[in-house]
Amino acid sequence: MNQKNREIDWSRLNEIIAEHCQERWSLIPLVQEIQNEYGYIPPDAIPIIADKLKLFPSAVQGVISFYAQLYTEPRGRNTVRVCRGTACHVRGGKTILKLVKKELGIDEGETTDDLEYTLETVACIGVCALAPSLVINQQVYGRMNPKKVGQLFKRKDENHEPA
Ligand code: FES
Repeated sequence: MNQKNREIDWSRLNEIIAEHCQERWSLIPLVQEIQNEYGYIPPDAIPIIADKLKLFPSAVQGVISFYAQLYTEPRGRNTVRVCRGTACHVRGGKTILKLVKKELGIDEGETTDDLEYTLETVACIGVCALAPSLVINQQVYGRMNPKKVGQLFKRKDENHEPA
């Protein structure tokens, strides 16, 4: 089964809402806790949250959309961020992004069906001397080239956490 379409245990959602709905200004901690529980905020949860907090669903959606770290789609276990800053761009960053997209079979902002990887781009990773570069979770990979990209994603189950 495609893991993105897995069943959601709604009982936990109701418990989380019950813990927070008496608090004033509880929307952000509430949606954060829902995201911690499910890995994202299921869109079907938005009208339920809105109802409990006596808000419009559009207001809940607006707050979620405002914060880049809140997600309404499942995320991959690993987040790949390819740099598209100037230093990386002039050293072939565009090609690196293209190759990463090809390796993972997804576009920017998307997650692989097996929920292993989410692909994003960033303005600058802060290691311009190592351009072109990318980050997987907290691990920086610099001076990327086509061969390195291939090696990096050869084993899809590779642990990309820093040693
Ligand atoms: S521009 Fe890519 S690391 Fe700074």
